[in-house]
Amino acid sequence: ASAQNKVTLNADEGKTVISRHIYGHFAEHLGRCIYEGFYVGENNTKIPNKNGVRLDVVNALKKLKIPNLRWPGGCFADTYHWKDGIGPKAKRPKIVNTWWGGVTEDNSFGTHDFLNMCELLGTEPYLAGNVGSGTVQDLSEWVQYVNFEKNSPMSNLRQQNGREKPWNVRFWGVGNEAWGCGGNMKPDYYANIYRQYSTFMNSQVGTEKIFRIASGASDDDYNWTETLMKNIPVNMLEGLAMHHYSVFSWDAGKKGSATNFTESEYARTLKEAYKMDELIQKHSAVMDKYDPQKKVALIVDEWGSWYNVEPGTNPGFLYQQNTMRDAMLAGMTLNIFHKHAERVRMANLAQAINVLQAVILTDKEKLLLTPTYHVLEMYNVHQDATLIPIDVKSDDYTVGDTKLPAISVSASRDKAGKVHISLVNIDANKPQEISVNLKGIKASGITGRILASAKMQDHNTFDNPNKIKPVPFTGAKLNGDNLTVTLPPVSVVVLEL
Ligand code: AHR
Repeated sequence: ASAQNKVTLNADEGKTVISRHIYGHFAEHLGRCIYEGFYVGENNTKIPNKNGVRLDVVNALKKLKIPNLRWPGGCFADTYHWKDGIGPKAKRPKIVNTWWGGVTEDNSFGTHDFLNMCELLGTEPYLAGNVGSGTVQDLSEWVQYVNFEKNSPMSNLRQQNGREKPWNVRFWGVGNEAWGCGGNMKPDYYANIYRQYSTFMNSQVGTEKIFRIASGASDDDYNWTETLMKNIPVNMLEGLAMHHYSVFSWDAGKKGSATNFTESEYARTLKEAYKMDELIQKHSAVMDKYDPQKKVALIVDEWGSWYNVEPGTNPGFLYQQNTMRDAMLAGMTLNIFHKHAERVRMANLAQAINVLQAVILTDKEKLLLTPTYHVLEMYNVHQDATLIPIDVKSDDYTVGDTKLPAISVSASRDKAGKVHISLVNIDANKPQEISVNLKGIKASGITGRILASAKMQDHNTFDNPNKIKPVPFTGAKLNGDNLTVTLPPVSVVVLEL
């Protein structure tokens, strides 16, 4: 039978670079993300670490080419007073983590610990400032503490605490979810607050201005974006955030199990993930009205799946397993980000370790890489590559009254001239054959890798951590200008031409 799915690559029309920062991560003081996840303490003799940071985590994240890491929240950011986390650890105050489980936060992981860890990871830090319960002075001093080289009260304090040179942090969030946990503000009020705070965050990094990111809309709150864009001059704003989680019910306990789900729940989760496309289109259209030159980036600094926590774990810790459903979600969302690469220039998957759609799970000294990890690793060939505009005609995948495109595709050309095509088949029952018109791309050969498993509920466990991992893919046939690819059900493939 001839393929229902048709893709055309318009390589000669490529002009937009897919920012590597779309592949960013997020680490909040939440559950076991920082403590036990990234950081196990300097005195830990069981888990190999450098200054308390797990080396197995560092190695795994380096393989992802993790471009940036957002910290310390999330909701936690608007309760965080950065001066609590500097200086001798024994003297740091112990506080209550009010948003996440009411546990004691001993501040043993603070600014130096985080920024030095980013250097170890080779990643750019993205600091989320406290606007909800902090002051303009606190935030402007944090900028001075980490970025100012010469003599000043804050750079002197940094040096007393053992760090001679500034870290030169470029990415700064001005509050988080200001409409909710960040202060329950109205958009016009927050727009003024943003203007005030950002006025005093005017440092340079080298010759560049720092990159300030306004707390953005939740999902389809286009009024939030409109009010901010209308009231904040474009020269005071480098990025505007937006958050969207793929969750089919926000009612407590009704988000469904991460592993034990029906096909209908699978389709409903992926339908929520597909919404990302519409959300980006509509927020971008609002931004275009005030910023037609696209100077302000749209930053999706929280995205991913959100299920019920694993049975028996602390409900405030948001610990969930990660299956092939999450791999589908990651593959199609990244393809959506690529498509909008002109406006979407940064994104952060929530969250890196042991929280929500994590790429890594840990259990004491054990560590596993989730299916989501493998998708990000396979896709990292797209980082900083030039987007190849494509036309896609997809077969439908229908479950009850949920109808979705069965396939999702994206393509780019890297600096060495190699073309990469990422393809996802979310159809749980049928293989999908795709006919790809290369339109003049000269391919001498083709290689690929696939992530697949027998069941959509399959996942890696600490007893069987390598059940799901990428393997070589042989289902692509090249015939002159045409490529035929057969994707098994529930699979992600990345091809190299
Ligand atoms: O990622 C978990 C939480 O979700 C974040 O702290 C908050 O910003 C969002 O509501």
